[in-house]
Amino acid sequence: MASTTTTQLFLTLSLLSLLAYSAHAQLSTNFYANTCPNLPTIVRNGMRQAVNRERRLGASILRLFFHDCFVNGCDASILLDDTATFTGEKNAAPNRNSARGFEVIDSIKSQVEASCNATVSCADILALAARDGVVLLGGPTWNVPLGRRDARTASQSGANSQIPGPSENLSSLISKFAAKGLSARDMTVLSGAHTIGQAQCRTFRNRIYNDTNIDANFAATRRANCPATGGDANLAPLDIQTPARFDNNYYGNLVARRGLLHSDQELFNGGSQDSLVRSYSTDGTSFARDFSAAMVRMGNISPLTGTNGEIRLNCRRVN
Ligand code: HEM
Repeated sequence: MASTTTTQLFLTLSLLSLLAYSAHAQLSTNFYANTCPNLPTIVRNGMRQAVNRERRLGASILRLFFHDCFVNGCDASILLDDTATFTGEKNAAPNRNSARGFEVIDSIKSQVEASCNATVSCADILALAARDGVVLLGGPTWNVPLGRRDARTASQSGANSQIPGPSENLSSLISKFAAKGLSARDMTVLSGAHTIGQAQCRTFRNRIYNDTNIDANFAATRRANCPATGGDANLAPLDIQTPARFDNNYYGNLVARRGLLHSDQELFNGGSQDSLVRSYSTDGTSFARDFSAAMVRMGNISPLTGTNGEIRLNCRRVN
């Protein structure tokens, strides 16, 4: 009896470790070292051009990667266009009239194809481009594990239900990240991405008119360009101090109750993440280190590898 239980325990543990291993078994930082050695340079140059044209594009690409990874893993599903017979993720609520930067990925992809035909996935290009955008805006760097393949499907309903929204509370943010295997700490450090980029009035109107955990001067400043009705697409920086620089000011803003989104301020509102927010607000080095590590974990969310999926030739459509 005892030995049966031990055997069962052993088998269960072996199976679990095999599953955990195979989840990111094939991703490796040198995946294209022989097949597309210029890949890192092509992506970096493409991102440099884009960011020189408009710094916000670094932010937009980082967000695309997040929205890709949270729906069926980092499989470039967000890049697929809708057609008469195919419904993708671009028109899901979190993405419609909001997700941007697709042309940057198209342009990088066509240069990658010219150099290494049918070799590099759109999912990997997006992972590298997101890292490069962060670096070009002054943020930390990290090695990007590669070897993802591209989905032949997408899920609009998955995007609607699994990507967190700006009015969510702390426990709901924590559970949406937990559903992807990411911890509350990961959630808090990845939210530091809101040190760059912009948000539309419709995403923070309720906060600046109705929330009470908000600095009064900050709310007044934001109301000036976000009326109670109308102006839905008017933009405001997610980080009021340095919106085009990847630094730790996001956390200082939260401590000063100047988070732009309701969901941002939820990270510093008397709950479990307060102490981490406080520590990142004064320690940019630990934020940078933890952000890099968490980006690798986010990039590991259920990739397609091996013979699953495909290497798309055009990121907007399946082959
Ligand atoms: C924690 C839950 C999160 C929520 C509720 C959230 C929500 C939002 C919203 C509402 C916007 C503004 C979109 C618009 O107005 O068009 C936005 C922008 C942005 N988000 Fe998040 N986000 C979250 C986490 C993340 C994560 C994990 C990342 C990346 C690692 C990220 C990166 C960005 C960036 C860079 C922008 C600016 C994009 C641009 O300027 O084009 N966000 N987010």
